[in-house]
Amino acid sequence: MRISVIGCGYLGAVHAACMAKLGHEVVGIDVDERKVNELSAARAPFYEPGLEDLLREVQESGRLSFTTEVSAAAGSTVHFICVGTPQKKGENGADMTYVDAAVSALIPHLLPGDVVVGKSTVPVGTATRLAALIRESEPEAHLLWNPEFLREGHAVSDTLHPDRFVYGVADGSEDHKAVELLDDVYAASLASGTPRVVTDLPTSELVKTAANSFLATKISFINAMAEVCEAAGADVSLLADAVGMDDRIGRKFLNAGIGFGGGCLPKDIRAFMARAGELGADQALTFLREVDAINMRRRTRVVELTRDLCGGSLMGQKITVLGAAFKPESDDVRDSPALSIAAQLQLQGAVVTVTDPKALENASRRFPELHYETLTDLALRGADALLLLTEWNEYCRLDPYESATLVSALRILDGRNVLDPSKWRAAGWTYRGLGRP
Ligand code: UDX
Repeated sequence: MRISVIGCGYLGAVHAACMAKLGHEVVGIDVDERKVNELSAARAPFYEPGLEDLLREVQESGRLSFTTEVSAAAGSTVHFICVGTPQKKGENGADMTYVDAAVSALIPHLLPGDVVVGKSTVPVGTATRLAALIRESEPEAHLLWNPEFLREGHAVSDTLHPDRFVYGVADGSEDHKAVELLDDVYAASLASGTPRVVTDLPTSELVKTAANSFLATKISFINAMAEVCEAAGADVSLLADAVGMDDRIGRKFLNAGIGFGGGCLPKDIRAFMARAGELGADQALTFLREVDAINMRRRTRVVELTRDLCGGSLMGQKITVLGAAFKPESDDVRDSPALSIAAQLQLQGAVVTVTDPKALENASRRFPELHYETLTDLALRGADALLLLTEWNEYCRLDPYESATLVSALRILDGRNVLDPSKWRAAGWTYRGLGRP
């Protein structure tokens, strides 16, 4: 099938490459010329494991191309909308500029029978509005909402082997023409047994925001337990293990630490609250305000703990922050708790060095005032305290004895509770975890 993918960021670039891998003929369209040039040369404009190999493979097959011209969408039967919906400046709501612009630019190129498939995370009600807009100029074209649940760092496998497909169509019916067409696009995954839920447009939009809100709530729940554990002298890691053994609860997403960040969870829960307010259902989501507050409090808590660890003052203390990305296996620093803590420490008088295997370029663009060091050994040299804030494998495997020969003072704060406290203490370190004695 001929497919166009509009928006080639973390979501769209991966989606375009995966659709070509499934055997479709794909054109990726983006307004950013630099991104298009990189992707055309089979280079990923961001770090995502497996993406460059996949780009190379499918481009050699001739099934994938990239362009800045939206007119290249003409002739495709299915058009995926994969542009971003960032948080509006100074407001909680989602900025719909890119989605609206993408759909408006696409409309003149639509032909009868074409299906526009929305993948971006949008405020509920958007799909119904866009469907009407499309119908106005091409009554025979359809809109289907198909939210994406991929995780950065696992984007390729999540796209090729998703947990489920959600299809939202105007009448919520399995017999909708667009359903048949999207089934053809995803035929390989559907044949391997991936479940598919067909529903109406607003439910499909809400599935995504509800799922992200649940995940955010789970993380803030365990972080709230970490606060209580800290006050009571209990251990939140063991608590999570034991609570997670109840298979109604599950152990996943119960890792206490510096909290969630990234381009999705923080802005999605805020946009959800804003949208519920517009709908007059704000009371239903007031708990998300608390989820957000618990999450942001983690960052302040780590700054306080670091001050404690350094003997009461941060002035002039050389602090090395291990990790800048919002999570490992990503170079994404959008709303990264690690980077926000590093910046706070610097503001309070510490001399901060940040290291990360992949995210330093993005980090230095975001916070040029921090000092960055590519090599871990060099970053450790002379440090008065280490802060492990993103759990890259390399940092989880640090050797406390070797590290001790590099730093000035043996102090470590484990912001992700991934190190073995007894091992580090045995090597002479003052170890602090979050919610651990
Ligand atoms: C998330 C959703 O998982 C995904 O389904 C959706 O499509 C987009 O948003 P992503 O942003 O890639 O994906 O990251 P995710 O793996 O969910 O992690 C989000 C944040 O939560 C990270 O900062 C991570 O470090 C943090 N986290 C995760 C915790 O603090 N504790 C946990 O137990 C799990």
